[in-house]
Amino acid sequence: MNISIIGSGYVGLVTGTCLAELGNKVICTDCNAEKIRHLKKGIVPIYEPGLEDLIKKNVDKKRLIFSQEIKPAIQKSEIIFITVGTPSRENGEADLTGIENVARNIAHYMNGYKLVVEKSTVPVQTGERVKQTIDIYNHKKHKFDVASNPEFLREGSAINDFMHPDRIVIGIESKKARDILLNLYKPLKAPILVTDIKSAELIKHAANSFLATKISFINAISQICERVGADVEKVAKGMGLDKRIGDFFLDAGIGYGGSCLPKDIDAFINISEELGYDFVLLKAVRQVNEEQKEEFMRKIEDNLWIIQDKTIAILGLAFKPNTDDIRSAPSIDIVKKLQEKGARIKVYDPCAMEKAKAVLKGVKFCKDAYEAARASDCLVIITDWNEFKELDLKRIKKVLRHPLIIDGRNIYDRQQMKQLGFKYVSVGRPKVI
Ligand code: UGA
Repeated sequence: MNISIIGSGYVGLVTGTCLAELGNKVICTDCNAEKIRHLKKGIVPIYEPGLEDLIKKNVDKKRLIFSQEIKPAIQKSEIIFITVGTPSRENGEADLTGIENVARNIAHYMNGYKLVVEKSTVPVQTGERVKQTIDIYNHKKHKFDVASNPEFLREGSAINDFMHPDRIVIGIESKKARDILLNLYKPLKAPILVTDIKSAELIKHAANSFLATKISFINAISQICERVGADVEKVAKGMGLDKRIGDFFLDAGIGYGGSCLPKDIDAFINISEELGYDFVLLKAVRQVNEEQKEEFMRKIEDNLWIIQDKTIAILGLAFKPNTDDIRSAPSIDIVKKLQEKGARIKVYDPCAMEKAKAVLKGVKFCKDAYEAARASDCLVIITDWNEFKELDLKRIKKVLRHPLIIDGRNIYDRQQMKQLGFKYVSVGRPKVI
C-alpha cells in the first residue's frame, strides 16, 4: 500500500519505518528541513534501539523515503497517518494546531479517496474535528474517511512493540476504512479491536492514565512501607501474582516522566473538566507523582544533611533506560534543585548526555560512572540503565568520598550493599546503614 506519514517525530518515524518493513511504500514527511536532510543521509534524530538499521534497510529497498514536501506525499498515498506533535499548553490542554494544519493540507491537496488516520495522541472528539476540517476545505469533494489508530509504543522498545503488539486498536466509521486497516495490519497477526472513533481515542487516554495510576499507586505504597519498615518490592510481588492485578508497572521509584504519561495525564484531566467531569482520581495520581520526586529530594538532604558545597554524582539523566529522551525526566528537576541548594553536580548517562547539555548548566559531564563517583559525597541513581546494575561496586566504593548511594530505582540488592559496606538508601525498602 502507498502510505504517507505526516510528522517524522518519534511515533511517525517508528510507524513509517515499520510499515515499510511490512512491505508498504512509505513517504515520511516533516516540516523541519534539517531533520529531513539528516534522515536522507541516514542520521536519525532520536536514539531508539534498532531504528537506524531498519531505516537503512528499508531506504535501500526503496520502500521508505523522506521528504519535506507534503503535497506529493498526500497525492501518492491512499493512507495518510497524522503523527504530528500535540504539545501541552500551559493549562495542560493539548495544542492541536499541528493536527488542524495537516487536516487543511490534506483537504487542499487531495486527488482521490484518502484514508486519514490519526495516530498522534489526541483528545477524544479530535477525529470529528479532523473530519469537519477536511470537509470544509475539500472543495473538489473527493471521498475520504477518518480513522483513529492510537499507538502504544514505549520508547526504548518501540520497534518490538510495533511488530509484536498486545493489541491494535482501530476506530472507524466505514467498512472501507475498516477493510483497509485490517489488511494493513494483517501481517502482524495481532489481536485487533475495531471500535468507533471516539472509543479508540479514549482507549489511548485511558490506557496511559491507568499505567500512571499503577505507578503512583505503588509509589504511595512505598511511602507506607518506609514508615513501617516493609519492603515495597515484596508487596508489589505479592500484589502482582494476582492475575487480576498483574506485576507490570508496579516498580516504585522517583515517579513517571517522559514525553507521554505526564502530558497525557494533564490533557485527560483537562478534557474531562471540559466535559463536566472532575477526574479527582487522576489529579491524585499526578500529585503523588510530584510528591515522589520531592520525597526523593528530602532523602538526599536527610542523608547528606547540608547540601551546600557537597559533590553529588548523578547516574542517569534519561527518563528511563534505552532512550536519550530527557523530556519531563525527573533527573532535570532533581539536578536543578540540588544546584539551587549549592551542590556541585557530576553526571553520567550512557545515551542522554548530548541532549542534557542543552538543558543543564554548570554541571560536570563525566565519561563514565566511575569518573562521576570519584571524590563525590554521594552517588544518586536516577535511571535504571543495565550498565548501572553491572557496575564494579568495590571500585565505586573506593573512589567515592563517602560510601553513600541513594537509589531512586531500587537496582541493587540490599544484602549485597550491606556486605560491601555501603550506606544504601532506596525507595520503599529499609535503609542499609
Ligand atoms: C508510555 C506507554 O507505556 C506506552 O504504551 C505509550 O504508547 C506511550 O507512553 C505513549 O503514549 O506514546 P513511555 O513514555 O515510552 O510509554 O514510557 P513507559 O515505559 O510507560 O515509562 C514511563 C515512565 O514511568 C518512566 O519514567 C518510567 O521510569 C516510569 N515507570 C514505569 C515507573 O516509575 N515504574 C514502573 O513500574 C514503570
